[in-house]
Amino acid sequence: MESIVAILSSLILIFSAFSPGSSLNFTYYDKTCPRAESIISNIVKSAVSANRTVPAGLLRMHFHDCFIRGCDASVLLDSKGNNKAEKAGIANVNSLHAFFVIDSAKKAVEASCPGVVSCADILALATRDAVVLSGGPTWDVPKGRKDGRASKASDTNTLPAPFFNISQLQQSFAQRGLSIEDVVALSGSHTIGVSHCSSFENRIRKFNATHDIDPSMQPSFAQSLRGICPINSGNPVTQMVPPANTFNNTYYKLVLQGKGLFSSDHALLSTPKTKELVSKFASSPEAFRKAFAASMIKMSSIVGGEEIRRNCRVIN
Ligand code: HEM
Ligand SMILES: *[C@@H]1O[C@H](CO)[C@@H](O)[C@H](O)[C@H]1NC(C)=O
Ligand SMILES: *[C@@H]1O[C@H](CO)[C@@H](O)[C@H](O)[C@H]1NC(C)=O
Ligand SMILES: *[C@@H]1O[C@H](CO)[C@@H](O)[C@H](O)[C@H]1NC(C)=O
Ligand SMILES: *[C@@H]1O[C@H](CO)[C@@H](O)[C@H](O)[C@H]1NC(C)=O
Ligand SMILES: *[C@@H]1O[C@H](CO)[C@@H](O)[C@H](O)[C@H]1NC(C)=O
Repeated sequence: MESIVAILSSLILIFSAFSPGSSLNFTYYDKTCPRAESIISNIVKSAVSANRTVPAGLLRMHFHDCFIRGCDASVLLDSKGNNKAEKAGIANVNSLHAFFVIDSAKKAVEASCPGVVSCADILALATRDAVVLSGGPTWDVPKGRKDGRASKASDTNTLPAPFFNISQLQQSFAQRGLSIEDVVALSGSHTIGVSHCSSFENRIRKFNATHDIDPSMQPSFAQSLRGICPINSGNPVTQMVPPANTFNNTYYKLVLQGKGLFSSDHALLSTPKTKELVSKFASSPEAFRKAFAASMIKMSSIVGGEEIRRNCRVIN
């Protein structure tokens, strides 16, 4: 009974996520704001050249937007009165960043075509640009998303967590209409950006009653993480894939060596199908680039929302 309810509610989620997806298209602003994409690109370009942490910030922001209420810019709303917004949720607070890039892009786009381009589309486009500027693949972004009018911190509890195993990851993505191939391809995002020690510290100390360190972690890698994350060190960050914020397939090579930072990274090796994909992406940069672009289009086409916000931080 319980599993029937779970299956039905997953189907409803998938259906509601995908039914309005057809409202998106590639020429959406061709008549109403033809310069939108180039205005946004220019803003992202200057933000990234000033600060290399921006691409990872935008990519994760877009992911967390799309996974809650669809890609409706709910992640951009500020808390107001008694309502704590998504950005104040545990998975986001002290972690999501680069909101200023979307604010400046919105401002520039509004100056050219007021009230036309949604914040959700701006985030989707800025994310694509940020990935390209980091050395990643490009893709055409379908447009026509609408901005939502709700944002609740508690919804962030439904985001996938770094301690998830493969079945939990698969279920979390399936609830949004995404496949196990999407799980593996999009996890390659962890080629750029940083993680706080708190996101993996359970693996490097007091793992369980018999192992101080997660035995699936390569021992010298675990030791180096202990050095980066001393006890009571105030939760510093570490680059997920050193040395730089370059978007390539190095992540998959590291996962195969037991050097994935999160249990969810290592979990990709726990089924034959996902392990095969990790090996494929590790050995073929082209296969990864193609799969990543396709999965990003899928993820960014989960729509929701109903208006075009004037200011990305507040509902109209
Ligand atoms: C598969 C499930 C996933 C889990 C469990 C997960 C978990 C995490 C965690 C815990 C962090 C570190 C946050 C911190 O400590 O501040 C992180 C960082 C990041 N994640 Fe994921 N993630 C997942 C999938 C994704 C996807 C689908 C994307 C994008 C499409 C993504 C993009 C990123 C990026 C770019 C960062 C670095 C952020 C920064 O440097 O600011 N992740 N992820
Ligand atoms: C794209 O969507 C808009 C709004 O729904 C519509 O006006 C336009 O005709 C669509 N373009 C194409 C090529 O389907
Ligand atoms: C770079 O941008 C991040 C937000 O993405 C910000 O926290 C950080 O202070 C910026 N660094 C510099 C040097 O401006
Ligand atoms: C994953 O975790 C869930 C919840 O803890 C558990 O019920 C399930 O058996 C685990 N699956 C695998 C494949 O380990
Ligand atoms: C600790 O984790 C390891 C690896 O997952 C496992 O083999 C071992 O049985 C666990 N020990 C306990 C007491 O759960
Ligand atoms: C990925 O980029 C990093 C940083 O530029 C570089 O050191 C590494 O060799 C690249 N890896 C691959 C597989 O291209």
